Parts: sequence; C-alpha cells; structure tokens
Amino acid sequence: MSGATRLLSVQGLGAGYGDIAVLNDISFDIDVGDLVALIGSNGAGKSTLLRTLSGVIKPSVGKVQFNGEELCGVAPEHIVAAGLIHVPEGRRLFAGLSVVDNLLVGAYLRRDGKAAIRRSIDEVYSLFPRLAERRHQDAATLSGGEQQMCAIGRGLMANPRLLLIDELSLGLAPRVVDELIAAMHRINARGTTLLVVEQDVEVALSLARHGLVLDQGSIRLSGESSSLRQHPLIHAAYLGEVL
Ligand SMILES: Nc1ncnc2c1ncn2[C@@H]1O[C@H](COP(=O)(O)OP(=O)(O)OP(=O)(O)O)[C@@H](O)[C@H]1O
Ligand SMILES: [Mg+2]
Repeated sequence: MSGATRLLSVQGLGAGYGDIAVLNDISFDIDVGDLVALIGSNGAGKSTLLRTLSGVIKPSVGKVQFNGEELCGVAPEHIVAAGLIHVPEGRRLFAGLSVVDNLLVGAYLRRDGKAAIRRSIDEVYSLFPRLAERRHQDAATLSGGEQQMCAIGRGLMANPRLLLIDELSLGLAPRVVDELIAAMHRINARGTTLLVVEQDVEVALSLARHGLVLDQGSIRLSGESSSLRQHPLIHAAYLGEVL
C-alpha cells in the first residue's frame, strides 16, 4: 500500500515462559487502518504473541515499535496508554459487575473527562445494541456472544489505536460470528487498526485484508487474504476440508 503509515513494527521478536521459548524471530509490520488476521493451529503461539505485544510477557529478544515508540520491556499500563489494547482469550469479564461497569473498567486510564467517556459508551451501544439492552445485567450472566461483545466494547473504551482481539469467534454460533465480523468492519472503518486472532481460517480470510500465519512460534506465511486463500499450504493445512 503506497503512502501508508506504519503503526506497528515487530522485528526479531522472541518470547516464552521461563526457559521455554515459544516465539522465534517474529517479524512483521502493520500499517495504520489495516485489518489483519493472525492464523495458526492450537499451540502455535498466537496468544503468546498478543501477550508479548501488550507487555504481559517480556520478550527475550527483538524490537516492537508502536506509533514510533519502542515498547519492548515497557509496563503494560504504559502500552495501554499508548493505545495498544488487548482483548484476551476467554473474554475475562468481571463477574459481579454490570455490563456498563465492565465497559467503564476499559476507560480507567483516560483523562479526557466524563462527557467523552459517555460518548464512547454510546458508540459501543450503537455498535452492539444488545449491550445497551443489558447494560445493568451482571456480565457473568451474558451469553457467549454478548460476553464477546462486552469484552470488545471494554477494549474500545480505552480509545485504541490498535486493538488486538484473541479468538474472535471461538464457540459462537454462525449468526453471532456474522454480527462480530460486521462490527470489526465498522470499528476498522472508524479508524481503529485491528489484529484479530481467528482459528477459523475461512472466517479469518473473509474478515481481514491481510493475514499472518503462525506455525510453531514462527511466521510461516504473510500477505493479502486473497493470495493466502490460494496458497497451497493454507489449502492443505487449513482449508482442505472446507473448500
Ligand atoms: N502460561 C504458560 N506457561 C507455560 N507455557 C505456556 C503458557 N501459556 C502457553 N504456553 C505454551 O506456549 C505455546 C503456545 O501457546 P499459545 O497459548 O500462545 O498458543 P495459541 O496459538 O494461542 O493456541 P490456541 O489456539 O490453543 O489458543 C504452547 O506450547 C503452550 O503450551
Ligand atoms: Mg490462544
């Protein structure tokens, strides 16, 4: 893409848990406004990569530049304040708190005042009208799809430049998945760059403009979704039974 502005640049990133290395020499870039899918089978390291980008795990080696700033070794709160927001696997809503209180948790570092935060809540409600209907309901009692909407809404409340979403569609009915895909496009059209982990390769490639394929902790393939869809490896490994 000509004239694109780089938002995230990852170079030679390595990370793991204690002595166990999971990610090896990961390099990729994401431009402002892009919608990127991160694909890979169970245990490939997708969640580990998102955790490393959001500062939950410290990288062992490599560089992460975000919006011109070096993020390696930086505290997670600082990364949130810089606008890189992670919607984790499993949604992790606060049980016992209502939908609206869960949304407000996402705004905890904002200093732009109540009126701006109120506007953001209204935007989340217009994106996900079901959350508006259920604003006072305990988040733990929401359906799986509503919990995912609430988790994404909470991420949006932080005013992200880049939103990382882990396992967008896992365990959700096709109709809910369609709603979430439409929401991704609206969020992206409003100017938020997205990196979405999606195990369903059909969903991932129809959702995103670009794809990254992670295999055993390394980037195996990357490119436009349309070309990845034709790639023999994707076909054999992920789409063989679908197409
Ligand atoms: N907290 C942890 N401590 C030790 N090893 C871990 C931890 N979390 C993940 N791992 C290991 O890291 C590797 C990558 O796991 P990760 O959760 O990043 O994969 P994933 O691609 O997100 O998989 P899934 O599709 O199942 O969510 C796996 O071998 C896993 O066992
Ligand atoms: Mg995972």
